[in-house]
Amino acid sequence: MCCSIIFITYLINSITIYFLNYFYNKYHTIIMKCRCKRNCIISRNEVLEDIQTRYNPCSDCYTKKLKKSIPIKRQLNLDDVDKNYKKCTSCNKRHIDTVMAHVLKIMIENGFLSTTSSIRKVGTPLITPAVPLKTSPYLPEKSLVLITQHTDNKTSEKIYNSVPEIKSVIKGDINNTVGQLNENNGIHNYKLQSGCDIRCDIQKTDVGEICLYKPQSKIHIEYPKEESLKLKQVNEILNKYDNPTVLDAMCGAGTLGIYALLKNAKKVHFNDIYDIAVDTTETNLKLNNIPCDKYEITQEDICNLSCTNQRYDVGLIDAFPGVDTSGYETFLKKICKEIYII
Ligand SMILES: C[S@@+](CC[C@H](N)C(=O)[O-])C[C@H]1O[C@@H](n2cnc3c(N)ncnc32)[C@H](O)[C@@H]1O
Ligand SMILES: [Zn+2]
Ligand SMILES: [Zn+2]
Repeated sequence: MCCSIIFITYLINSITIYFLNYFYNKYHTIIMKCRCKRNCIISRNEVLEDIQTRYNPCSDCYTKKLKKSIPIKRQLNLDDVDKNYKKCTSCNKRHIDTVMAHVLKIMIENGFLSTTSSIRKVGTPLITPAVPLKTSPYLPEKSLVLITQHTDNKTSEKIYNSVPEIKSVIKGDINNTVGQLNENNGIHNYKLQSGCDIRCDIQKTDVGEICLYKPQSKIHIEYPKEESLKLKQVNEILNKYDNPTVLDAMCGAGTLGIYALLKNAKKVHFNDIYDIAVDTTETNLKLNNIPCDKYEITQEDICNLSCTNQRYDVGLIDAFPGVDTSGYETFLKKICKEIYII
């Protein structure tokens, strides 16, 4: 009897999960499973579908903003703030300042900040999917990754569970580069304390948008710009060739090489010393529909690349600010016709 009840419950659960997945997949094109086993990574078309209006208020939205540097206690009564505070009942969005005020309330309750703190103190909010915005955003659910120092595991869990717009809370100091600075340094990661840190940056280019997914606690922040100076530089280089072969020797999330392939590159060799960068590039190549015969990917120190018998037209060096690139140049000169420090 007991066994039959367990079996029937199991059966009902399985059928429910099957149908839930079926309906989710029907409306979202899942390209690949996220590390969190949820469906954070969706197709490029779907990401781009509503991006122009995604963060706009509707006519019913509450539009009065907070002052970013004035103590929170002088601007509102924190007792009133909860998940419904100033949430639009028509479109379900809240202004980013209200969301940050809600997070601040939890940080105050947990002893990390005080009522004299302003929302500016809370941390660095990164929207996802991200595009350059002219005005501050109105946020739908699970659209904000927060990087902050004013938290611990318990507080981050509380923020994630109480503030619907939060997709994840990462503990870290944005003044310390995340990832691997160079071959002489170890890997520095931020600490993902709640939710899933996969974000999508959308970089506009002359050959269309490039979608760049990033596990934000493990890879450097590079917020998309209206016009990327790096891509402008790569564009000028590519214009000198018909179909160049390119070595994106420190590829990070793969932005430069993916752009080169969307433009006119015959083939791109992506390389990075850091395993997470290599994985991220691989994901981004698939998401941007780049055929796999157009690229190869390696994980090597730029000074010890094993492809010494290959020759490239263009070698790209995009190191972190302050890193001495002279050794990289010497090495790449042996295998590339031209080298560019981005
Ligand atoms: C500024 S980021 C590159 C950004 C990249 N263009 C993008 O689109 O994300 C610098 C990259 O250099 C990589 N790196 C650091 N030292 C390296 C080395 N010795 N060899 C190869 N890659 C290295 C880092 O892992 C990091 O991904
Ligand atoms: Zn995820
Ligand atoms: Zn609204």
